[in-house]
Amino acid sequence: MSKLQHLLSLAEFTPQQLADMLALALKVKQHPADYSQALAGKSIALIFEKPSLRTRVSFDVGIYKLGGHSVYLDQQNGAMGKRETVADFGCNLACWTDAIVARVFCQTTLDKLVASSKKPVVNALSDRYHPCQALADLLALKERFGDLSKVHLAYVGDGNNVCHSLMLGAALSGMKMTVITPEGFLPEADIVAQAEKLAKQTGASIILSRDMASASGANAIYTDTWLSMGDKADPQVIADTFAPYQINQPLMQQLGVTYFMHCLPAHREHEVTSEVLDSEASLVLLQAENRMHAQNAVLISLFS
Ligand code: CP
Ligand code: NVA
Repeated sequence: MSKLQHLLSLAEFTPQQLADMLALALKVKQHPADYSQALAGKSIALIFEKPSLRTRVSFDVGIYKLGGHSVYLDQQNGAMGKRETVADFGCNLACWTDAIVARVFCQTTLDKLVASSKKPVVNALSDRYHPCQALADLLALKERFGDLSKVHLAYVGDGNNVCHSLMLGAALSGMKMTVITPEGFLPEADIVAQAEKLAKQTGASIILSRDMASASGANAIYTDTWLSMGDKADPQVIADTFAPYQINQPLMQQLGVTYFMHCLPAHREHEVTSEVLDSEASLVLLQAENRMHAQNAVLISLFS
């Protein structure tokens, strides 16, 4: 597959490039020994402006498994724009490291890192996108269903970063995706338009709805936290607004949905009940496991 320059949103992929990336991720998962030196001699900076369990550990361990070396920068050492500008941060990191993985408050910080470091940059979550998560999720769906163009994914909850990247991934993969949000929590209009444009190329359909019944018969139902990191809304107002959108067992049965998905961390008894989260229908640990394989495919593609 062609060399990847950056992973900032998922919209940098053509439909074929995304399919190739998922195929590579599956190969990396099935034959890890074949890739054990893929990043030999490479050092990769991991910058986190926000907390993380899955992203931090899956990148750190994944880079090790590819024979590379990671340098973790937390807020004490990685407070970009505070001790020095983001641009100065980026051009200094470029003196020693081969790529930058960054979890940031603002998507524009990633653009500044791209411009100043001139190294490959991978978005490890921003206010707008979570592309690594979407890749892992698509990989999980591919493992369960094979042909993604036959899959109906319903996303329920906040039209947030995870929803945005899933919409782009679904559109590129020819899927049907129904996004069900309360009033005022729609995904960003420009990203919806971008996903709809991509969907025209692939035969995908992206449907926005307020009605839970539109998830009826979906192959998988996906939800995320009602309040993302950095959101300033009143938690009680949010809990009241989103309560009708909780994923619980009676709803799963009523809709006839096969699988449950969540990027994690989950807020038990809020957006999902423990009964669903811990059930056989739950793909959450497969999604978490696949973070590493999907990201490793991305890292291999940056340097191949
Ligand atoms: N899903 C995810 O990105 O988890 P973390 O916030 O723990 O990295
Ligand atoms: N939407 C969530 C995802 C966490 C992995 C957030 O941005 O906090």
